[in-house]
Amino acid sequence: MEGLGYPDKSRLLQWYDEFSRPLPWRENPEPWSVLLSEFILQQTKMEVGVGYWERMIARFPTLLDMASSSLDEVMEIWQGCGYYARARNLHALSIIIASRNPPILPSDPNELQKLPGIGPYTAAAIASISFEIPISVVDGNVRRVYSRLNALENPKPSVVKTWAQSCLDYNRPGDWNQAVMELGATICTPRKPRCEDCPISSSCSALLTSDPTMFPLSKRRVSKKILGHALVINSPEGVVLSRRKGSQLGGLWGVPISEDPNGLESLCSKHDVESPIKVGEIRHAFSHRDFNLQVWRIDVMKGGIPSGSVPISRLDQKILDAAGCGEL
Ligand code: ADE
Repeated sequence: MEGLGYPDKSRLLQWYDEFSRPLPWRENPEPWSVLLSEFILQQTKMEVGVGYWERMIARFPTLLDMASSSLDEVMEIWQGCGYYARARNLHALSIIIASRNPPILPSDPNELQKLPGIGPYTAAAIASISFEIPISVVDGNVRRVYSRLNALENPKPSVVKTWAQSCLDYNRPGDWNQAVMELGATICTPRKPRCEDCPISSSCSALLTSDPTMFPLSKRRVSKKILGHALVINSPEGVVLSRRKGSQLGGLWGVPISEDPNGLESLCSKHDVESPIKVGEIRHAFSHRDFNLQVWRIDVMKGGIPSGSVPISRLDQKILDAAGCGEL
């Protein structure tokens, strides 16, 4: 593409060889371990993600190990990592591949994209990192590096994709993709880029402006405030928990919740209890939803299950802790 700044490929790859983080799946980037890392990193920061990857690979060293396990066993390891649709997709994907002959992950990005939880980014990442297929990845880091190199405030996704593909190093596509992402994650960061350590700063247009962080312009995220109630029904046997539905927490277990500030009464009548006691209030922020829940507790004679016996989310752990029922 004419007029656009291109990074100096050999300098960026040299920098990557010398300074990239020693992530555990980079030593031997075989498809299952790279797939696990990319599923985790889709919505989890690297510092937290590495620990989850280590626990997942220890528990499910191969795809077939996951395919022969239950969803609850996968959730057990995934709990606390958030965005549980990823764990459900991972489990579903392992079962699909295990049923094939031979039971192996495809290298073709189009075939990868037909699997649950794999979109264009993840397909390109697995294809290039594990199979050296020459296809570029575009994530937030790549978009930021590109926007800054060219001092563009709001480049269209199709333009970023074309640029990324035209820059790709065909000899080392996996390392190239990871080098651009690595640069975005460690040097060309959103707020405080370390331009003095950047191997490709001589091609950067944003560096010639007064403030490189102006590129790209950030769209401020607005999260929806949710005021509601959580009801902890407690007995000597445990707490009333059921399996949650929906994309955010579906698959995990939780206490009854109402997302309506006036919904306490109907929550109680639905569960056949009266006059719970208010024991506290919790806040829990997801990326687009900010929960503020009043926590109510009622003690009953029997029913419920020990909360430690099923996978639950951080939101529910906070609720149970506020009710003094988190230790069962
Ligand atoms: N973020 C997600 N996957 C990554 C990778 N392979 N390298 C660097 N950052 C990443």
